[in-house]
Formats: sequence, C-alpha cells, structure tokens
Amino acid sequence: MKQIAVVGLGYVGLTTAVGLAQLGHQVLGFDVDDAKVSKLGAGESPIYENGLEAALEGLIHSKALDFTNSLDVVEDFKPEFIFICVSTPQDDSGAADLTILNSVVSQLAGIAEPNSILVIKSTVPVGTGQTIANTLNRTDVFVASNPEFLREGTAMKDFMEPDRIVVGSSNPEVAKRVLDLYEAIDAPKLQTNLESSELIKYAANAYLAMRLSFTNDIAALSEKSNANVDQVLHGMGLDKRIGTAFLKPGPGWGGSCFPKDTNALVAIAKEFGSPLPLVETAIASNNAAIARSVNAITELAGGDLANKKVAVWGIAFKANTDDIRDSPALKIVDSLISKGAEVQAYDPVAVAPDRAGFVLKGTALEGAAGADVLAVLTEWPEFAEVSPDKVAEAMRTSVVYDARRILPKSWRAHVSFIKVLGEASE
Ligand code: UGA
Repeated sequence: MKQIAVVGLGYVGLTTAVGLAQLGHQVLGFDVDDAKVSKLGAGESPIYENGLEAALEGLIHSKALDFTNSLDVVEDFKPEFIFICVSTPQDDSGAADLTILNSVVSQLAGIAEPNSILVIKSTVPVGTGQTIANTLNRTDVFVASNPEFLREGTAMKDFMEPDRIVVGSSNPEVAKRVLDLYEAIDAPKLQTNLESSELIKYAANAYLAMRLSFTNDIAALSEKSNANVDQVLHGMGLDKRIGTAFLKPGPGWGGSCFPKDTNALVAIAKEFGSPLPLVETAIASNNAAIARSVNAITELAGGDLANKKVAVWGIAFKANTDDIRDSPALKIVDSLISKGAEVQAYDPVAVAPDRAGFVLKGTALEGAAGADVLAVLTEWPEFAEVSPDKVAEAMRTSVVYDARRILPKSWRAHVSFIKVLGEASE
C-alpha cells in the first residue's frame, strides 16, 4: 500500500483517486473547489459516472480515500506519489494551456517529500514532463508521465480493465515504481521515456478521431450512393488489421478530449516543424459532419427553420454521461437556433445552460410535443424504447431524423417520415 495524493478532481482525477484506492492504496484527493470537496467528503459524486458513487461511499467509509482543499493537508499526508490531473484546456491558438498545471507544479515543488514522484496524468504536449523536471529545481523529486485512456461513461471499468498502462520517465526505476502501483491489474504495461508516453496519448486520441471522421465520411458517401453503411463498415472492420470497434457513424465526434487534443496535437506538430495534415483534415471533416446534420434537419423542416419547432433528443456528447463539453448535439442545436428554429430538448441526465430559443423538457415525449421535426442526436438506449405512436401523436408533423441510427426499423410504419443518417431516403 502506498500513500498517494491526487491533485485535480475532475473526471480523470476522481476516477484515478477512486481506482487507486480500490487497488489498495491510501489516497488523498485535492481540489481547489470547496463545494466539490465537501460533496465528495459526503460520498456524493459531482459527476454522473457509472459505478463511481457506489465505490466512493465504501472507500470513504473504510478510510482508504479522503478529500481536502488544503495543500497543507497534502503536505502533512507525506505522499510518495502525487498524481497531477488538472485540466489542460485549449488556448486561443488551439494549443494546450498549461497555466493551471504550471501553477500546481510550482506549489508542489515546495511541499513534495524527498524521493517522491510527480506523476503527470493531465494530457500535456510532448516535452512538458521534461520542462517540468527542469523547472522543478528538486533533484530529489522525480517526474513521470502516466497518460489516461478512460472513456466517460465507462471510466471505472476502463481504469480497472485497461487495454494497456503506459508510464514514461527518463529514469527506468522511477517508471517501475509507478507501474508497480498497478501491480494488481492484468494488462500490458509499457515503460517508455517521458516524450513517448506524452505522444502516445495524443497519437491515440487523434487516430481514433481520424477513424471516426473517416467513418462519418463513409456514412455520407453511403447515403449518396445507396450503399448500406452498416454492411460497408462491418465488411471493412472484419479485416483484422482494421477491427470492428469504434466505427459507429454519428453527427460528429465531441467531448472534452478529442476536439481539444486534436487541436493541441496539430499545434505542437507545427511547432516541431512536422505537421499532421491528416489530423487537420479530420477536424475539418468533423465540422462538415455537424453541418450535414443541420442541413438534413433544415431540409426535413421544409428548407426553412424560421418559426419551426425542432425537438432534440440527447444533448450530451454521447450516451451515459451528463457531459456537454464540445457536444456535437449542442453545436447542432445552436446552429438550428441561429437559423430561426425554436429547440425543445430532452436528455436523461445532461442539462445545458439557458440560451434564447432553447427549452429543456423532463421527458422524451414532452420534448417531442408540438415539434415539426424530431432529431435524435445522442445514442441513449431509452430513446429506442419510446412508443413511436405516442411520438407521432405528440408532434405537429411526425418527421424524424435519426443521427445515431438507434431507432428500431418498426418506427417507419408509425411516423410520417424518418431519415436515418448514412441511409438514402426512401
Ligand atoms: C476519449 C477516448 O476514447 C479515451 O480513450 C480517452 O481517454 C479520452 O477521450 C480522454 O482523452 O480523456 P471520451 O471522450 O470519453 O474518450 O469518449 P469516446 O467514447 O471516445 O467518444 C468520443 C466521441 O466520439 C463522442 O462524441 C462519441 O459519440 C463519438 N463516437 C465514438 C462515435 O461517433 N462513434 C463511435 O463509434 C465511437
């Protein structure tokens, strides 16, 4: 059992704190947000994440996990490992903004125990770990990189059953000490230098985003050419070199990671004089995918959205999360509103800040009430369970756009028209 502090309790930090405590370590989570810390102390999760709150309660009760908003408490805890999980948002140029990270590191430089390790879990541009090691000015404190590959919605499972664990350090013994924290987890463990570990994270996210852009472009081509997109993608994915996972077409990729990380990778690649045109094109293709859905909804509303009511099911960036950061659904909503539509939305857990022309309803059917077009923009399974007869009854004209391809085929017989993303209209 090791003493571990986790600094920054967002998605990554909180999952990491809970996961490390479940692995048997003594964990202290730190965040500057007082409200979040007191909520966590009471066993309540500030985010909607499957299994997180249940695990939290047990670990707090058994005293394996505690939370604080005081760095003095962190210092007194004398952690051997300090995981840094603060956010690295996008700055105006698209590059990663390291202001919060640098400020945290300078505070930790004064309190870190001799022989302790700062483990960078925040997603940082290649070269950051070495810069931190240089500026830390502590020969007795080490720096390692340990990127996370968690998906929102399945974060706890991804922590306990990862495809791989990557740890980078210029000192192999330091990397080994960090890897040993995960001894109980059966997964390939990769030990690299700092730069490789940092680049693995960006390369993986950019590759996945490119794959989705390609998927969405193939869906658009299928729609035009009367090919069956499911068969095309399945037939393609059966090639073992390609694989069938992560090939589901949709209204575009979003979330707190892909948009930010692809932009940051493009920026850092340019800085190194080694640009990544494929990633740049994937970003442009994603903007085009979002615009395609806006156009499809506009067409379904008769070509003009002025005074039209559009019902939207799902505003989160994907199902099983309440996260709306960089959500393609919300980008589509904003675009519809700017074209004169009134948007009435429903999401099982996500809420969006107030905006003119937008109202959030409490149930799927209330969301559909009086609408000219219903657009399904997030793949929440409960949407497929709603009765299409009741939807048709509630809407003004029962025209439906399924951008996630989740509504059962039987809907066709119950609504006046249904357009499915990736399929030629019948
Ligand atoms: C992503 C990566 O999948 C994680 O490995 C990584 O750790 C994480 O970013 C991060 O950097 O923190 P996440 O943003 O939670 O995880 O979401 P994904 O499940 O990857 O979905 C991203 C977007 O792609 C969503 O908008 C989703 O709807 C879309 N998507 C995903 C599709 O349209 N089709 C698919 O087949 C898969």
